Amino acid sequence: MSFRSQASEIAVWWMRVDAPAAPVQVMWKDCLDEKEKIRADGFRFAEDRTAYIAAHWLLRQALTQADRSIGPEAWRFVTQAQGKPVIDPALGRDDIQFNISHTKGLVACVVGRDARVGIDVEASSGRHSGLEIARRFFSPSEAETLGKLDQDKQTQAFFRLWTLKEAFIKATGEGLNRALDSFSFALDPVSISFPALDTEAAAGWEFIEERPTDTHFMALALCSAIGPPSRLSIHQVSSKMDAVALPPSLARF
Ligand code: COA
Ligand code: MG
Repeated sequence: MSFRSQASEIAVWWMRVDAPAAPVQVMWKDCLDEKEKIRADGFRFAEDRTAYIAAHWLLRQALTQADRSIGPEAWRFVTQAQGKPVIDPALGRDDIQFNISHTKGLVACVVGRDARVGIDVEASSGRHSGLEIARRFFSPSEAETLGKLDQDKQTQAFFRLWTLKEAFIKATGEGLNRALDSFSFALDPVSISFPALDTEAAAGWEFIEERPTDTHFMALALCSAIGPPSRLSIHQVSSKMDAVALPPSLARF
């Protein structure tokens, strides 16, 4: 399962988080460092706390798959200026990049080497189509695309755009410091574009979408420093990092 031998391989790990048993949660939390434990304890709602703990446990397991000489508990992180967590340079593995996302019922992380990576997962509530949010925050062309769709397709397209946009701003590390209307996605096929005066090049970016469950949307943004990624694998894992469908491992590139 290790993918450290090949440069520019990207691995996505995701896990369902539906009311895990208490001992499982204890096992997950034991793996975290003090800073993470303090943050976990700060969540007001148990559901958010559980998702946070699960995501950080999953990330640590996934990183150890990338470098087995560093155990899951031994990974340390620092935060970049605009909020993106990265591996502590003191560990000497800053060639490994990662990103995590947690939402109701599902957590995910992406781990890659020599590539900027961002991931987003969202649970569709089914309550609204997202058109108002899109009109307010997305680019005019994205809002226009959504406005032409009927309710069902609109909801789907909204979550696709949402996760793609968030995966992108998480891959660049800017997060919400970057205005959501400063770039624009087209769907089917997926592509990104920037206003003429924006110097950021669309070249080099890859976007991948998955539907891990009927109610969850997932998007991945990748920009490899050394050419297109050679392989993408997607793994669903169980609460103990074993058993559940290892792989599916999908060759994408
Ligand atoms: N760049 C990349 N990753 C970042 C980041 C940044 N600037 N800031 C935080 N993250 C990582 C962290 O690891 C964080 O998890 P942690 O707090 O448990 O360590 C993780 O992203 C959270 O991702 P996700 O679960 O998808 O959370 P989110 O959807 O609530 O928010 C951000 C992610 C980074 C965009 C955040 O800035 C935010 O507040 N978003 C609000 C939601 C929104 O409006 N999204 C735009 C929709 S298009
Ligand atoms: Mg998100």
